[in-house]
Amino acid sequence: MSFFPQPPSSTAGQVTASLRQDHDIIKKVLKATDACIKLLKEGKEIPPAILLDTVDFITNFIDRCHHAKEEQGLFPALEATGMPRENSVIGTMLREHEEARKIAEHIKNAVESHIQDKSEESRSKIIQYCEAYVNHIDRHILKEDTRLFIIAERRLKGKENDVKKMVDSVEIEKVGGAEGRKQYEENADRFLSSVRQLGSSNN
Ligand SMILES: [Fe+2]
Ligand SMILES: [Fe+2]
Repeated sequence: MSFFPQPPSSTAGQVTASLRQDHDIIKKVLKATDACIKLLKEGKEIPPAILLDTVDFITNFIDRCHHAKEEQGLFPALEATGMPRENSVIGTMLREHEEARKIAEHIKNAVESHIQDKSEESRSKIIQYCEAYVNHIDRHILKEDTRLFIIAERRLKGKENDVKKMVDSVEIEKVGGAEGRKQYEENADRFLSSVRQLGSSNN
């Protein structure tokens, strides 16, 4: 996993500022999920509350909020500048969001099964699908940070306020705006420190 550092923000960074901030929050959860995978591979149990928080973050923050901000805010703004949906980076990102949704559904099912049966089979499925998800989203974020957002910042020059309004309105609808996002950021910090504690207490 790369967990790439953020590229320097451009002068037109306002267009993508909130999306880049989301990526920072998501990267913390990817790190925590990676630590969970390591513990599960060592045969350790992860408390159900932590597994359920991971599913909640993936479902409600990454998919319902962050991907919607891109799909309903950024991508239409780029299409309005003449960028095609098909055979373009937008089409690739949409397919990757769809793939992320499918893997997230598998994680949710595996976590629900494991909380019920504590079986080796459900544990292996959590490991398998969480690994797939972490790798997929890590690569996806890297492409957006280093390619899509650079294009967006260039193409949407002069339209920063309009795009920001569209992205913010999706965030308000999905998680209640900046306050809701702050809550998810706190959850991500707590998730990361809980898993780190779990790792050190299990040593
Ligand atoms: Fe995306
Ligand atoms: Fe993104």
